[in-house]
Amino acid sequence: MRAMRAETFSGYEGLKLIELPKPAVTEAKVLVRITAAGVTPLDYTILSGKFHGSKAPLVLGNEGAGVVEQGGGTDFPVGSRVMFFGTYGAFEDGTDSEWVAVRKEDLCLIPDNVDEVSAAGIPVAYLTAQVALTLAGFQAGKTVLAPAIGGSIGNAVTQLARALGAKHAMSSTTNHAKAEQAKALGFNEVIDTSLEKLGDGVRRITSGYGADIVIDGIGGEVLSEALGALALEGRLTTLGYSASRKTTIDVTNLIVPQASIRGLNMFAQPKAAITHAWTVIVSLLKSGAIKPIVAKTFPLAEAADALRYLIEGRPFGRVVLTI
Ligand SMILES: NC(=O)c1ccc[n+]([C@@H]2O[C@H](COP(=O)([O-])OP(=O)(O)OC[C@H]3O[C@@H](n4cnc5c(N)ncnc54)[C@H](OP(=O)(O)O)[C@@H]3O)[C@@H](O)[C@H]2O)c1
Repeated sequence: MRAMRAETFSGYEGLKLIELPKPAVTEAKVLVRITAAGVTPLDYTILSGKFHGSKAPLVLGNEGAGVVEQGGGTDFPVGSRVMFFGTYGAFEDGTDSEWVAVRKEDLCLIPDNVDEVSAAGIPVAYLTAQVALTLAGFQAGKTVLAPAIGGSIGNAVTQLARALGAKHAMSSTTNHAKAEQAKALGFNEVIDTSLEKLGDGVRRITSGYGADIVIDGIGGEVLSEALGALALEGRLTTLGYSASRKTTIDVTNLIVPQASIRGLNMFAQPKAAITHAWTVIVSLLKSGAIKPIVAKTFPLAEAADALRYLIEGRPFGRVVLTI
């Protein structure tokens, strides 16, 4: 089978299209013919040699969608459409390939109203977003900020929070054109940080109240600014570093509002948290309350271009490989 493998963790040039044997199906695994694979910043972190625990050579791709070919039993009959996330593409070969033997517990049936390209970009963003909201104590009526409306986490948190009854589901962008695009897509609480500081925007939208919950995948200055926008007893979850792993914070932004900050690692979540998150997500997908956004697709052979487009092009929506 064809697979896009990182032969070395030396940047985009490390990716090579190769032939590998089709995976054998053992007990508790399901053979899935991959039709689409989500491209994520994790691929870039690994390819840059900056992710703990990944070893080259490695087929990248942390999430995907496809069709069950064997071993799914009655839960996932042959021919059913599935999407999944797990340790694929990080600690074992991933979804940038024609077939993957997937642990049954990682699979989720794709609702009929969702196409496979969109489905491939759902698991990482939406599971992370939902788990983060749950851990932060989200309830209807809360005010939520998730920076970067065009990014996968920012967009998924904003869509979930809005669908689940947040009083305000706020996001941001550094790019004026993306702010306009967000408005056109119906995201009405997006702070254009080319015009206004993040904290000022949050205070304007919430009439001075602030954000009960911040879910931040950007890091750097954005994290530091977002801390200053927390409401009393507010909670900030840091889970990514698209801008930077390092920042400086003003500790009084935690002390005065008695706020807190925590980290989130999706590879460390208990099975029950993922199952619960899938239940919420699938129901909202079926009702149309959340709508995944795909910016662009690339064929498998152009995986390096796809990743470069995600990291350097900073698109609005997901980048997906068609296999
Ligand atoms: N901890 C976990 O388990 C977990 C799970 C999932 C993801 N993550 C991590 O979360 C992070 C976000 O993932 P994602 O998929 O949302 O990323 P993404 O889709 O690539 O979006 C990143 C966005 O960040 C903004 N950005 C990039 N560089 C910036 C900078 N220097 N300053 C300010 N904004 C900047 C851009 O938005 P604008 O151009 O609009 O400003 C960009 O579109 C990544 O680090 C990812 O690895 C972690």
